[in-house]
Amino acid sequence: MHHIFACFGRYTKDAALAALCTVGEVLMEVLLPFVMAFIIDQGVETGDMGAIGRYGLIMIVMAFASLAFGAASGAFAARASTGVAANLREAVFDKVQTYSFANIDKFSTAGLVTRMTTDVTNVQNAVLMCLRVGLRSPIMLISSLCAAISISGHLSWVFGVAIIFLALALGVIMVKANKRFTVVFDTYDDLNASVQENIGAIRVVKAFVREAYENSKFKKAVDTLYKRFVSAEGLVAFNNPIMMLAVYACVLGLSWFGARFVVAGSMTTGQLTSMFSYIMQVLMSLMMLSMIIVMLTMSMTSIRRISQALDEVPDIANPKQPVHELADGSVEFDHVNFAYGQGTGENVLQDIDLKIASGETIGVIGGTGSGKSSLVNLICRLYDATSGTVRVGGRDVRDYDLDTLRNGVAMVLQKNVLFSGTILENLRWGNDDATDEECREACRAACADEFIDQMPDGYNTFIERGGTNVSGGQKQRLCIARALLKRPKVLILDDSTSAVDTATDAKIREAFARYIPGTTKIIIAQRISSVADADRIIVLEGGRINAVGTHDELVESNDIYRSIYESQMEGGGDFDIQASGAAAQPGASADAASTPSARKEA
Ligand SMILES: Nc1ncnc2c1ncn2[C@@H]1O[C@H](COP(=O)(O)OP(=O)(O)O)[C@@H](O)[C@H]1O
Ligand SMILES: [Mg+2]
Repeated sequence: MHHIFACFGRYTKDAALAALCTVGEVLMEVLLPFVMAFIIDQGVETGDMGAIGRYGLIMIVMAFASLAFGAASGAFAARASTGVAANLREAVFDKVQTYSFANIDKFSTAGLVTRMTTDVTNVQNAVLMCLRVGLRSPIMLISSLCAAISISGHLSWVFGVAIIFLALALGVIMVKANKRFTVVFDTYDDLNASVQENIGAIRVVKAFVREAYENSKFKKAVDTLYKRFVSAEGLVAFNNPIMMLAVYACVLGLSWFGARFVVAGSMTTGQLTSMFSYIMQVLMSLMMLSMIIVMLTMSMTSIRRISQALDEVPDIANPKQPVHELADGSVEFDHVNFAYGQGTGENVLQDIDLKIASGETIGVIGGTGSGKSSLVNLICRLYDATSGTVRVGGRDVRDYDLDTLRNGVAMVLQKNVLFSGTILENLRWGNDDATDEECREACRAACADEFIDQMPDGYNTFIERGGTNVSGGQKQRLCIARALLKRPKVLILDDSTSAVDTATDAKIREAFARYIPGTTKIIIAQRISSVADADRIIVLEGGRINAVGTHDELVESNDIYRSIYESQMEGGGDFDIQASGAAAQPGASADAASTPSARKEA
């Protein structure tokens, strides 16, 4: 809750004004029946037209004042609630930027997006409702009650009975409805996750002709949501009839007893008329109050979810006295174990002990799920080792300033993305100050220049969001060029040339020797040809280092390496040549769609 209050910020004034205007509006509305009583008692009963005119004018002024207060309050409340929503969105977004990979794993992307959109909107609506109706109904309730009691204490007990009845009935409904609404919100989450997964992977869905399956899955989710919503709303629908029952019971009670009081002379007709108005106001505000409480309990779910995101402690942060200098590109794993926080909790890396000298080229090979990506993620601290130490440039990675470390260790991720913007803009993610010529040079090294030059706008070609208008192989080469622009001390390629043909792949590796000669290169690949010329090759198997050696040594002595090598040599050729002749092997490329383009370029 404190997050919400903190987010009022400079909109506190608007919120206060909204509240003030609401009070004014309600006061006018409560006083109106009072004046009405005067008109009847002093004007209508006595036939005094002057009094009717006077009080009538006062009533008109009061009605307009109430209108003006209401409009002002609405405007201020709208400004305050949208302001809070904007601040809240910004707060969550800023917080997410500080998350480590492990933090993001915990929430899932869909969960974070829902928090910043649907949940924030819920809070915005709740704030608006609170400022308007939430304030209005209790004030209305109390002041109408006071006014009614001041007119006739004897008759007010009719209210008392009705209020107790209403409060009990509405209370029961609310408690039950709240439970059902909580379930509805969980279902919403599932639905959002399902939409996000489907839209995010729509190409894969189409490639595998899974539209019908996805449709039926989605229909099921929508149906569930529908049923749960109906069951929750069905309860709330009882509010109205119960309310009406109370109103008419009160009207009957008031007429019955009120008539006797009027006849006996202890009450005027005017007073009885205004009692009828007050009874409506009291009961209406009670009902409003119950609706508001339902709404608030609903938005509490959203507040809780937003608070979770805001309270999350980023588990990777800068040390107290960070080191701002990377001595060299040496990398050392000292008995490292690693397990992901989410998932089974089992170690995906076990007892990794490895020394890589600065400037060395290291190949990493192993089956999917053998821990290759996990291994390199530890080097630039995308995750922290569970036990043991990872050192870069002779120092524990946890000693470095994070920016220093990540600028020194450039990583081309397995699942990489380009952002919407021109090619040049994307390249400059690597280095803000890179000149056009430096960008071109990096692209030449990454063999990206050949296709960029053929594009209509060259380096100013616009990349669509997520890089959908470049092929898988082109995207990979742009990502490599972007990493090269950092001039890193350590360069890590996580399966980054999987969609690039073998010849270009070799050309890129040759260019590395020219462009970044002193840089330590760690190359993860599925193809033996990508790592064969490395100084040393690491074979990973089940999260352990199975063997380390040169290509010739491993072919000679390591069973796993030899079997991969032989399977790729089968058919007397290279993997790609085999692939273009027969069916493409799925493991060879990040996604099915990128393979044809890679072949076309070859
Ligand atoms: N973010 C994650 N959360 C939980 N488990 C993960 C995560 N990423 C990978 N894993 C698990 O860790 C193991 C190693 O994965 P990874 O290092 O990506 O393998 P590789 O890159 O060799 O294919 C796999 O069993 C995988 O299921
Ligand atoms: Mg991987």
